[in-house]
Amino acid sequence: MKEIKRNILLNPGPATTTDSVKLAQACPDICPREQEFGDLMEYCATEITRFVGNPNEYTTVLFGGSGTATVEAILNSVIPDTGKVLIIDNGAYGKRMCQITSVYKIPTVVFESSSIEPIDLNALEALIESTDGLTHLAMIHHETTTGLLNDITSVGEICKRHNVSFIVDSMSGFAAIPVDMKAMNIDYLAASSNKNIQGMAGIGFAICNKATLETTASIPMRSLYLNLYAQYVYFEKTHQTRFTPPVQTFYALKQAIVETLEETIEGRYARYTKSWETLIAGLDALGLEYLIDKKYHSKIITSIIEPKVDAYNFNEMHDYFFEKGFTIYPGKVNNYDTFRISNIGQIDYTDIEAFLKVLKSYLVQINYLNN
Ligand SMILES: Cc1ncc(COP(=O)(O)O)c(C=O)c1O
Repeated sequence: MKEIKRNILLNPGPATTTDSVKLAQACPDICPREQEFGDLMEYCATEITRFVGNPNEYTTVLFGGSGTATVEAILNSVIPDTGKVLIIDNGAYGKRMCQITSVYKIPTVVFESSSIEPIDLNALEALIESTDGLTHLAMIHHETTTGLLNDITSVGEICKRHNVSFIVDSMSGFAAIPVDMKAMNIDYLAASSNKNIQGMAGIGFAICNKATLETTASIPMRSLYLNLYAQYVYFEKTHQTRFTPPVQTFYALKQAIVETLEETIEGRYARYTKSWETLIAGLDALGLEYLIDKKYHSKIITSIIEPKVDAYNFNEMHDYFFEKGFTIYPGKVNNYDTFRISNIGQIDYTDIEAFLKVLKSYLVQINYLNN
């Protein structure tokens, strides 16, 4: 077998994977309607559920598609025309939720919040209290735009007090930052196969409180493909997705789950945290600043303020790194010139040390630092 080149992906997913996850995709051809494949999807769904809840009370609905497909499936499937959703917008992914509900013409109230400071919970609760007919609240767990970790525990308590169903997009938190759906009062959690779970891109997971999901049976379908309840019912009966699943990606996902179970979520977050601490210490030593205060930081992605020198150019810096096997990522925040470094995937602090050496040589080359 040809050796697989190891690239160090410092973008926030798809992440660097193990060779065993990559090689799991090279498997005998199989019709996904065979029981063997249904059993594999059932294993994946159950283990994904188990990471955040008890499979007797929670269930994972699988979709072929990227993470956005799953967020779209949840939002278009669970809020009736008579309902109303409050979306917390403190970054690009909160905004995307607003775009989705706008496309489906779902009644929406937006709570805009700073992209770098924590959510003002009193102001949020006041808006909830003054909004007639509010049935749902949707927010991002970890805003990948900035690295800001949102306080879903406190928002979950507020939702419970006001009898509002709670939807969380944990795309870049799931499988690293521990979540307990029951304790946090979360009804629906969106995640995908290619971030902290360290699998390949192409599968989205909507992890749902079964009892709450069952109350959505009577909501008329707004989308044929991305309907949560229809896929849930079909999978319960058949262990099949309604439409063709990404077969080889599922084999990789199974292997990624096995490796996550071996490392444990806590162990994985500890590894990511060590990489992040290495990154932050290195940035401090190089005199570079980052956006989010350590207290509110996810320790998963860091938005770094771009060096203010004429010779700096993100695309050139990207190419400089890319040639050396590192993929870095542009910024995505209004009002701040940043680039982003993520420390997820099968990398560790030694890879971050290697990245920092290359960063230093780039900064010397553009005359930001002296030799
Ligand atoms: C918080 C969050 N939500 C949604 C998405 C969208 O996922 P995808 O690009 O897989 O559609 C991302 C992607 O980075 C994300 O970080």
